[in-house]
Amino acid sequence: MKIKRIGVLTRDCAGVNACLRAIVRTAAYHNIEVMGIFRGYEGLMNDDMKIFDRRAVSGIINLGGTILKTSRAKKFMTGQGQRRAVAVIEQNNIDGLIVVGGNGSLAGAHVLADKYNIPVIGVPATIDNDINGVEMSIGADTAINVALDALDKIRDTATSLERIFVVEVMGRDCGFIALRAALAGGCEDAIIPEKKFSIEKIAEEITEGNVRGKVSWIVVVAEGKAKAGVIAGQITGLTGLETREVVLGHIQRGGIPTAFDRILAARYGNYAVELLKNGESGKCVAIKNYQMSSVPLAQAIKHKDIQAEDYYKLIKLLT
Ligand code: F6P
Repeated sequence: MKIKRIGVLTRDCAGVNACLRAIVRTAAYHNIEVMGIFRGYEGLMNDDMKIFDRRAVSGIINLGGTILKTSRAKKFMTGQGQRRAVAVIEQNNIDGLIVVGGNGSLAGAHVLADKYNIPVIGVPATIDNDINGVEMSIGADTAINVALDALDKIRDTATSLERIFVVEVMGRDCGFIALRAALAGGCEDAIIPEKKFSIEKIAEEITEGNVRGKVSWIVVVAEGKAKAGVIAGQITGLTGLETREVVLGHIQRGGIPTAFDRILAARYGNYAVELLKNGESGKCVAIKNYQMSSVPLAQAIKHKDIQAEDYYKLIKLLT
């Protein structure tokens, strides 16, 4: 079947707009029309969409978030919601769909492709970088750099005041940002969902370090594993040393995308259109050894090994 019109829906993180731009302009190059679907699956079920031509994506390459807006669509989890989405796709003569987002979005994409036979290609975009079989997701590099920038600034005060900081980064089920930012920032420890931790051991190391003259310390915590305030209080309780906590929150998901994320977004967006055009479906775009490739959506939504143990060991070895 010749693809004449595709629909695009997105989640938000830095680089998603650059990806939308690449999708629209690659499609235009092939004379394929693009329907921009607003507010993710919610907008798909509500028939909330409009045609995006080349000019509609001008000046967005450096913008964070998503100009398509996004939402969490609980109704799409139901058969009724999914059938409604399929009906809207058919009514709008959409021949294929590109879904740009994280695990939840790609799980929805998998359902549409697998259960309803809709041609769908997924594009990984999540700061957690937890899409299985995908080395890097759009938004992850920007998020690490935002966290790193904050860690560097916090380090200035930690060193000057000889103080302990506990910094909470994003990652509900995944320690990717915590581990990568901690390694890049030369932090002393990372508390992550993938690994058991002992607050007594951390306190012991801080006390021993203190005796040796190591008086500043940064512990990075992934939000899904523990709260910075609780950890900071426990460290003070066990060591008698002063601590401060910082919660970075959503600043990590927004902001100007890094060059890495924009380049990835351009390549992923372009490749997603090429795959759909060539009759592929049920796949998620990926890079392997800097080359474009893809993984089945069914595989992409499974648990990803983020090499937590290796990164953690390196953080500790370099402390
Ligand atoms: O999955 C991406 C992510 O940013 C996680 O790191 C975080 O736990 C979650 O989304 C936050 O979701 P929300 O913005 O809906 O609170």
